[in-house]
Amino acid sequence: MTIAPVQRTASLGSSAWTDARLIMALEEVVEKELNRHLKVAKDWMPHEFIPWSQGRDFDGVLGGEAWSVEQSKVTPLGRVSLVVNLLTEDNLPSYHHEIATMFGREGAWGTWVHRWTAEEGRHGIAIRDFLLATRAVDPNELERARMSHMSEGFESDNAHSMLHSVAYVAFQELATRISHRNTGHHAGDPLCDQLLAKIANDENLHMVFYRNLLKAALEIAPDQAMRAIADVVTNFRMPGHGIPGFERAAAQIAIGGVYNLRIHHDDVLQPVLRHLKVMEVSGLGPDGLRAQDELGVFLGGLDAQATKFDERQAALLARRAARQAAR
Ligand SMILES: [Fe+2]
Ligand SMILES: [Fe+2]
Repeated sequence: MTIAPVQRTASLGSSAWTDARLIMALEEVVEKELNRHLKVAKDWMPHEFIPWSQGRDFDGVLGGEAWSVEQSKVTPLGRVSLVVNLLTEDNLPSYHHEIATMFGREGAWGTWVHRWTAEEGRHGIAIRDFLLATRAVDPNELERARMSHMSEGFESDNAHSMLHSVAYVAFQELATRISHRNTGHHAGDPLCDQLLAKIANDENLHMVFYRNLLKAALEIAPDQAMRAIADVVTNFRMPGHGIPGFERAAAQIAIGGVYNLRIHHDDVLQPVLRHLKVMEVSGLGPDGLRAQDELGVFLGGLDAQATKFDERQAALLARRAARQAAR
């Protein structure tokens, strides 16, 4: 694959890579990755995954039965994680705005932006249908949280730079995949697990798209791409960080083993970084080398922090188990 080789000349320097030029230079890669995505992404029908027979009217307008917690077999951890995952999916209009503004709505980039939006739209629809049909969460609380979360909107930390945006979504799609998959495993309902596995599969294909794009960016603008990766990895925040009560939910999700520092380091950061061979990229200028060093130091520190978290988690779970046994 040849990407505008003339732009790699030293005389242009990394500062010559404006967002507009990068978007043009990567168009060919976007087209190739879009075609690959369309070939491997299998269409699926969200309604087939919802056990509609478990559904019934709620109280209020139709005078049905009010929600109460014992109506669902979903675990407390599953409930918290499902709400965070769904509210994260719900802010799709903001995400669409971010990427349509950054990547444009023309050509292969535009086709990707719209296709991605359509696939993501399916996730929110399917999870909400599932939660309401199975009475897994309080529907009033869920709706109030959706209104509050979407009214705030989402603003990317990376809107200043196209490469930072690509680097962020490469990690974020994998983070979302892992979060859905682990939520399914802890949900206590095999049908929920089945739905979330399907959604996690979509997120994985999104990650592959952006990861491959980032790989091409590392080839054509290595210094700037390395800086973007280092900045994104060292400042990573989940897109749902603005959800009401997020800190408390995130703590429960961490202790419960759905998403925590260890998982973030081992299952999200490392697989992408290893695939990109980020620590082995050679031929970097001073800026790129500095970014690569920062990344190495940060990852070492994160691994150590994750080990401390593992120990705290094990101790807490042991205390919980002992309390349970004493009852
Ligand atoms: Fe999604
Ligand atoms: Fe996704």
